[in-house]
Amino acid sequence: MTLRYIALLIAGLSVLTCKTWAMVDVNMEDRVEVSLKGQAEISCIYTLKEPAKMIVWFTKSPGRDQSRKRVYYYDTLQKEIIDEGSEYAGRINFTHSHEPQNSRGSALLIINNVQLSDQKEYICTVHDVSTDSGEGHTLLQIFNSPSLPVIEGTHTGISVTAEEPSKVAHCKVDDGYPRPNITWYKDRFPLQQSNNEVKISESETTKANGLFTVESDLYIKPQRTDEDALFYCEVKYFVPGEVRMTESKKINITVHYPTTKVTVYVNPRNGLIKEGDTVEIRCEGNGNPQPVFSFTHNEEELSADNEMLLLENVKRSHSGTYVCQSIDFGEGIYAEDSVNITVHYLDQIVVTPEETVLNQGDDLPLTCNALSSLPTQTSWFKDGTWLGKGHVLVLHNASYDTAGLYVCQVTVSSLHELQKQNSVQISVRGKPKFTKEIEVGPVNKADRSVNLTCYAEGFPFPNITWTLSDQRTGQPVPVPEAENQMTDTGVISMISVRAMSELTAKCSAANELGTEEVSRKIEASARATTTTTQATSPKGTELPVPSNQPRTGGGSGVIIAVLIICLLLIAILGSVLYFLYKKGKLPCGRSGKQDFTKQKASKDDIVMEMKSGKSEEAVLLQGVNGDKKSPTE
Ligand SMILES: *[C@@H]1O[C@H](CO)[C@@H](O)[C@H](O)[C@H]1NC(C)=O
Ligand SMILES: *[C@@H]1O[C@H](CO)[C@@H](O)[C@H](O)[C@H]1NC(C)=O
Ligand SMILES: *[C@@H]1O[C@H](CO)[C@@H](O)[C@H](O)[C@H]1NC(C)=O
Ligand SMILES: *[C@@H]1O[C@H](CO)[C@@H](O)[C@H](O)[C@H]1NC(C)=O
Ligand SMILES: *[C@@H]1O[C@H](CO)[C@@H](O)[C@H](O)[C@H]1NC(C)=O
Ligand SMILES: *[C@@H]1O[C@H](CO)[C@@H](O)[C@H](O)[C@H]1NC(C)=O
Ligand SMILES: *[C@@H]1O[C@H](CO)[C@@H](O)[C@H](O)[C@H]1NC(C)=O
Repeated sequence: MTLRYIALLIAGLSVLTCKTWAMVDVNMEDRVEVSLKGQAEISCIYTLKEPAKMIVWFTKSPGRDQSRKRVYYYDTLQKEIIDEGSEYAGRINFTHSHEPQNSRGSALLIINNVQLSDQKEYICTVHDVSTDSGEGHTLLQIFNSPSLPVIEGTHTGISVTAEEPSKVAHCKVDDGYPRPNITWYKDRFPLQQSNNEVKISESETTKANGLFTVESDLYIKPQRTDEDALFYCEVKYFVPGEVRMTESKKINITVHYPTTKVTVYVNPRNGLIKEGDTVEIRCEGNGNPQPVFSFTHNEEELSADNEMLLLENVKRSHSGTYVCQSIDFGEGIYAEDSVNITVHYLDQIVVTPEETVLNQGDDLPLTCNALSSLPTQTSWFKDGTWLGKGHVLVLHNASYDTAGLYVCQVTVSSLHELQKQNSVQISVRGKPKFTKEIEVGPVNKADRSVNLTCYAEGFPFPNITWTLSDQRTGQPVPVPEAENQMTDTGVISMISVRAMSELTAKCSAANELGTEEVSRKIEASARATTTTTQATSPKGTELPVPSNQPRTGGGSGVIIAVLIICLLLIAILGSVLYFLYKKGKLPCGRSGKQDFTKQKASKDDIVMEMKSGKSEEAVLLQGVNGDKKSPTE
């Protein structure tokens, strides 16, 4: 800036000094800035009372060759020459005018579709009538905005252990004029070349059209934290009148650093491991990328899927110490971690005795044992009922109620899924005993049968025998096949009977210790359709008809029964008539019509009686009966 100031001063002084022997005062801008392909206007203002006698425009290229080149000539003899040559062909135009009232003239140079080659000095010389002259200079500066910067990061990781800075990214910007500048940033902080940590190598090329391409490579010695950093490049360039900048997109980099520490994780993370589980042992190094891992179990090599060791359906033998080792081959750094795994178990339960028969009144301890790696809890159940805790259960004073299946359940207190059970069958010896009488089920609607059930306790299990006999005749009745079912303490036996008459059912239970018997009367449930004596008495007439006897003559039986009933009715009617005749109540020779009137009279009688009881209502009733003579009568 100071240089330019000094230059201006000198220029001013020279103008002053020139003025002494060149009287024309010419004013021009030092610099005109214009975008490539735009339009440039360079104006030249002079102070004269009359229009200039001659105006000449020259150009002067930068560089060694300081010679001027004429592009325009004009004089008052109306001679105008535009030396546009090939350089300005069709792109250049000149105008000039004069304002006498201001004693001012102006010449204007216009360049259309500005090219980079137009960047040079433009000189305007003005001559007055007395051949005094003056001149001015303007530098035309051309600008072109570059393309957006393109960044490309290094795809391979960058190691923190490299001795020299490694390449992080490449940034390229095209078609700038004048030359744009590239600045690198890491997380908004500009990076500067520094001996050891950052290296920036820049190159520029000038294209045939004169525009600049600038490329820059960034090299750094990364740190672990740089894996989270964002890098980008920024391009600064001039446009007419200002400085602009654009940023590339941001990239992150992959930083490689060695594993110095290894951590082993076990999945399931919390909680105890039991036999049958699937266990995952995972190894993680603090480096990037993950190193090669190897696993050992109790110092024995294992094959694993590098960082993961999968143990399926583990056994107690899988317990022990697992060591995970990592070796970073690049750096030769060695790290390891270990974990102790305990696989818990609960062995098969042993119940003693396995099975036993007790005598009534006996005492017996039952014991239940199981081997486990953890404390256990033992519970006893019989028929789903909880009996107590502890691995010994003592049975006192055995009775039939004592008999049954005793279940011992062992649970690991801290690992409830680890649970097993076993059982012991206890039988109590004794002669048969009936706890209930024979049960009679409801009548089956389909075949009119009933189920008879008899329950006998005893051990050895009693042998049940059913007998059926007709209660009236005492004749035995065939017994259908029984369904027998063993229970904890005895036998349930059931037969299905179609009782045609009242029966006596007898259930007898026998084992080597004795015999017991129970009986019950069974009411008839089925109806025999073949009997002819039905009418005489509804009770006791259903003779037992063996079910295998063929049923014949059903139709004739009905006819006979109808005949008998008719005869009986006639006999009863006869005796009633005779009885009435004897008493004199039956009037002889009276017709049915007289009977009907008598009936009507008796109805009137009833009305009368009501009248005597309740006067008003009765009168009304009588009125209705007397006057209207209801049509039904
Ligand atoms: C120069 O200016 C004149 C008048 O304004 C116009 O007619 C002509 O097209 C211009 N020439 C160029 C090359 O711009
Ligand atoms: C580019 O850098 C050079 C040298 O530091 C400087 O002179 C020029 O002004 C810079 N350009 C921009 C556009 O900042
Ligand atoms: C850059 O970061 C994004 C998310 O922030 C991530 O997905 C990507 O993998 C990272 N790229 C590199 C090269 O680290
Ligand atoms: C694993 O068990 C061994 C031997 O019982 C013991 O020395 C070691 O400290 C244990 N390691 C861990 C990680 O608990
Ligand atoms: C054993 O049980 C029987 C019948 O249940 C009872 O009569 C007897 O007193 C009991 N004996 C003892 C020692 O409890
Ligand atoms: C009688 O017992 C049989 C066999 O158990 C059963 O199918 C039937 O339903 C029982 N009948 C009645 C009426 O309960
Ligand atoms: C049951 O009794 C019958 C007749 O007494 C006999 O034949 C059969 O062997 C006995 N069955 C058993 C299991 O005792």
